[in-house]
Amino acid sequence: MLVLGIETTCDETAAAVIERAPDGSGRILSNIVHSQIGDHAPYGGVVPEIAARAHIDLLDGLIDRAMREAGVGYADLAGVAAAAGPGLIGGVIVGLTTAKAIAMVHDTPLIAVNHLEAHALTPRLTEPLVFPYCLFLVSGGHTQIVAVLGVGEYVRLGTTVDDAMGEAFDKVAKMLGLPYPGGPQVERAAAQGNATRFEFPRPMVGRPEPNFSLSGLKTAVRNEASRLLPLEEQDVADLCASFQAAVLASTADRLKVGLRIFEERFGPPQALVAAGGVASNQAIRGALETIARKAGTVLLLPPPALCTDNGAMIAWAGAERLALGISDGMDAAPRARWLL
Ligand code: KG4
Ligand code: ZN
Repeated sequence: MLVLGIETTCDETAAAVIERAPDGSGRILSNIVHSQIGDHAPYGGVVPEIAARAHIDLLDGLIDRAMREAGVGYADLAGVAAAAGPGLIGGVIVGLTTAKAIAMVHDTPLIAVNHLEAHALTPRLTEPLVFPYCLFLVSGGHTQIVAVLGVGEYVRLGTTVDDAMGEAFDKVAKMLGLPYPGGPQVERAAAQGNATRFEFPRPMVGRPEPNFSLSGLKTAVRNEASRLLPLEEQDVADLCASFQAAVLASTADRLKVGLRIFEERFGPPQALVAAGGVASNQAIRGALETIARKAGTVLLLPPPALCTDNGAMIAWAGAERLALGISDGMDAAPRARWLL
């Protein structure tokens, strides 16, 4: 089963073709991602209007390339999938409308995919992973612990009560004068810093619900930074390292609770799986390794290129739904908000 996938919910324009075999295994035939980072960097964050216009300019060419690289024609497709949300509505409309046009012209099924579901199912594209498993979804917009029980069966166990983790990294970077996008910059600076110089709060540690909170930690970094002004390079590195250490401590505690609740409700998970841009952070990947080992489960981390937004994950989620006989009509609506 060959599926074309389209991703336009934020600042990546992406198209991919994947193959799903009858045994449920997956293969990526092409996966083309154009990051609009350069377009948004001057503004210190994603500008929705600029993103939507860039998706319009780029998408057709990227789809052409994805189809050519995969060596398939439209007649070979079992379906076309687009992320129908959640995300910036202008971009979502561009991707979904394009997918509808292709589906109509080539008389192939449309699958309107939830972007979060695509992150949740991605590990099954590269690994023979069976349900149920525990997903830690950490991106610029989301911080969630989710029990993935089957395709379309998700139970959210925990979430952030304020900022998403990627958002907190981005805001800390901005207040320390590091360029956008901040996550990788904070990680790089932290590698040169002293993680014990500042004792930042470990948010939510010890709470019975596996939720996250990051805005208090962010404020603590801001207060410390303004006390130190003007900031030397070493101050920035130490602030980043101490911030990241607090994030890791909080993550370890929250996931420990999340995994315990998972096991109580659904039995032992087949794996702990991480997805989303923050899951490409090496320090976080290391911490997750320890968390999984202590909980007696295996850790599955998609390669970094599949952790950040891409078309292959949308195509794969579409294929998983198609394999169950699920597709969508031309009335499928673009959605800015869409809970798993
Ligand atoms: O999943 P993603 O590509 O886009 C969505 O938000 O859906 O995630 C992007 C987020 C940004 O906030 C970015 O700063 C963060 O992931 N990020 C990182 C790292 N790489 C990306 N955060 C911490 N460390 C990183 N290495
Ligand atoms: Zn994402």
